[in-house]
Amino acid sequence: MSNNETAAILGGPRAVTLDGSAGNRWPLITEEEEQSVLAVLRDGDLSLHQATRELEDDYRDFFGIRHTLAHCNGTAALLAAFFGVGLKPGDEVLVPSATHWASVVPMLWVGAIPVFCESELDRLGIDPADAETKITSRTRAIVIVHLWGMPSKMTELLQLAKKYDLKVIEDASHAPGATWCGRKCGTLGDVSVFSLQTSKLAPAGEGGMLLTDDDEIYERAICLGDVMRIIELPGPAQRIAATSFGMKTRMAPLSAAVARIQLKHLDRRNEKRNRNLTYLSEELEKLGFQTFLPPPHINRVYFEFLIRYCPESSELSIDGLVEALTAEGCEISYPRYPLLHQQPLFTEGLFAEIGPFAAMDKTKLPRYLPNALPKTEKANGDLIRLPTFPFAEMPLLRQYVDAAQKVMNQSHQIGLTRANALA
Ligand SMILES: Cc1ncc(COP(=O)(O)O)c(C=O)c1O
Repeated sequence: MSNNETAAILGGPRAVTLDGSAGNRWPLITEEEEQSVLAVLRDGDLSLHQATRELEDDYRDFFGIRHTLAHCNGTAALLAAFFGVGLKPGDEVLVPSATHWASVVPMLWVGAIPVFCESELDRLGIDPADAETKITSRTRAIVIVHLWGMPSKMTELLQLAKKYDLKVIEDASHAPGATWCGRKCGTLGDVSVFSLQTSKLAPAGEGGMLLTDDDEIYERAICLGDVMRIIELPGPAQRIAATSFGMKTRMAPLSAAVARIQLKHLDRRNEKRNRNLTYLSEELEKLGFQTFLPPPHINRVYFEFLIRYCPESSELSIDGLVEALTAEGCEISYPRYPLLHQQPLFTEGLFAEIGPFAAMDKTKLPRYLPNALPKTEKANGDLIRLPTFPFAEMPLLRQYVDAAQKVMNQSHQIGLTRANALA
């Protein structure tokens, strides 16, 4: 058993000897996608081919939602969602800081003001309790991101939204196929968005999808960026059919051709990845890691596999752990999103250069402080990232468990050796 051997960082053999490249390959593109793309190419209409509408139909069926609108990427779909719910200059929106920049930044183009909130430790979503303390008379909406594929605390967040009459914008980019109380993520708010960028669970390459049951949000999203479809809308919206509101956000049909196949395989591929990561999580929990296994009312998915290590209870720092697991042959790294409230766009007030803010009274603009979210900062600092093993088989997973067991069993010795080397 390799977990009885000396840790690789202390001179022993590596625990992970199997090649992980096939088991961790993502996305998987097969002949099915090739045929789907070729069919569009041969038809020749690379702008308005029906593949895009067919993808929207697929999403409508998969999510059981009234409207879907394909976009060129998730960022554009988020802009459409912020415009769609009618945010106006000066409106405040509760947002997490620990997320991809596009969950938040596009709202600046409609003049909405992000109010950064702490993330909670159980699921890494926006913290409902902290969010409530940040509500003012100008708060209009909340952005909920199901980070890494784990549904946020929806019971509390939906109650909060109801209590203060907030629009709910769900950025479900990490969570296609996840459910909360039997309902699919992406159908829980007023409007939701999926990024279909290459690394996502059902990618298009570049693409985004907006979902809503609300006719007005759907119509506003079309009026913002899909000029050719405005004419199809009922009522007065048609009078801007010649111009739109000035964006062009539609999806390329070649991307739609890829995304149709990916959506078809989503649930099955999620299942395999979930099986692998549930096994790994259960083993890692025994060693003291927090792995974000979901409670019974949640079916999570894994856009990425993040786990928490609490170095307070060990001589081995998080950097030491990463070094030791890397020496064992594990692919391991840190979370990749820098906290948004600490970025110069906010801390240096650079956002004031964006359209609607230029006309606002500068003294009334918010000031963003880098130390404003200590809980989020701390929580983010304890996380490490492993592969998601979409197609891996048990022998590779067992080797990762062996590696973690070896390192944790010898953490004292590894910590001391590192401390001496660094002294
Ligand atoms: C949570 C989240 N929201 C939004 C986006 C932006 O989507 P896109 O890259 O398709 O513009 C991404 C990432 O790509 C994301 O991870």
